[in-house]
Amino acid sequence: MERLRLAVLASGRGSNLQALIDAIAGGQLAAAIVGVFSDKPDAPALERARHAGLPARALRPRDFATRLEYDQALFEQIDQTGADLIVCAGYMRLISQPQVQPRVGRMLNIHPSLLPAFKGLHTHQQALDAGVDVHGASVHFLAPELDGGPVISQARVPALTDDDAATLGRRVLAREHPLLVQTLRLFAAARVALVDGVVHVDGHAMHAPLQLDQDDRLVHAAGAR
Ligand code: GRF
Repeated sequence: MERLRLAVLASGRGSNLQALIDAIAGGQLAAAIVGVFSDKPDAPALERARHAGLPARALRPRDFATRLEYDQALFEQIDQTGADLIVCAGYMRLISQPQVQPRVGRMLNIHPSLLPAFKGLHTHQQALDAGVDVHGASVHFLAPELDGGPVISQARVPALTDDDAATLGRRVLAREHPLLVQTLRLFAAARVALVDGVVHVDGHAMHAPLQLDQDDRLVHAAGAR
C-alpha cells in the first residue's frame, strides 16, 4: 500500500513533529513526511526536520502584504509536495478561509484541550481556572472557525489540585504524542473520513471522539459508537 504523505506545519518546539518522525522511523506509522513548513525561520521544529533529513521551509509572514497572500504562497508550496494530509502540530497562525475550505477533510490540528472546551491559547490555565478534574488534548479536522472542526480523537489526563499550567501542560503533552501518532495510524490505514461534516471510522459515523486508553489504543468512548 502507498504510504500516507504528510505535510506538517509547526511554529515552535516541534515535539509532536518529533513523535511522528520517531514513529515513522520505528515502523509504527506507515507514512512519509514530505514537507515541514513554518512561519518562524528559527523554529526548533525546522531543526528537528532537517536533522531527520526532511525538507523543511519557513515562509515569513512579514514578507507578504496580507494574510491571504501569505497563505496562498504557503499552500502552493504544500500542494507541490503532493501531501495527502496536512497536519498542524503547534502551528500558531490562523489559516485563512480560502485555503482551509477546499481542504476540509485533509487538514488536521492537535489542540491541547478536550474540545469544545478551552479553545484558543493558554488552555492549561483556562482548564485550571475553570476547576476541571479532567483535561487533555484533541485531534480534529480543521474547519474555518478557530479550533472548531469535528473532533476525531482525544486523550484525557487528570488535573491535580497542586497543578499549575506548566505541570498540567507537561502531562497533557506526554499524551499528545501517542494521540497524534495513533490517530495518524488510522489515516494511514484509510480508516477515517469526514463525510458531510461527520467523522466516520471504519465506515461508521462517530457520535463521540475516540479515546486514547492507557495502552495507547484508540477506543470508542463508553456508550458511544
Ligand atoms: C502542543 O501543545 C499542541 O497541542 C499545540 O501546540 C503545542 C505544540 O507543541 N497546538 P510542539 O511544538 O509539538 O512541541
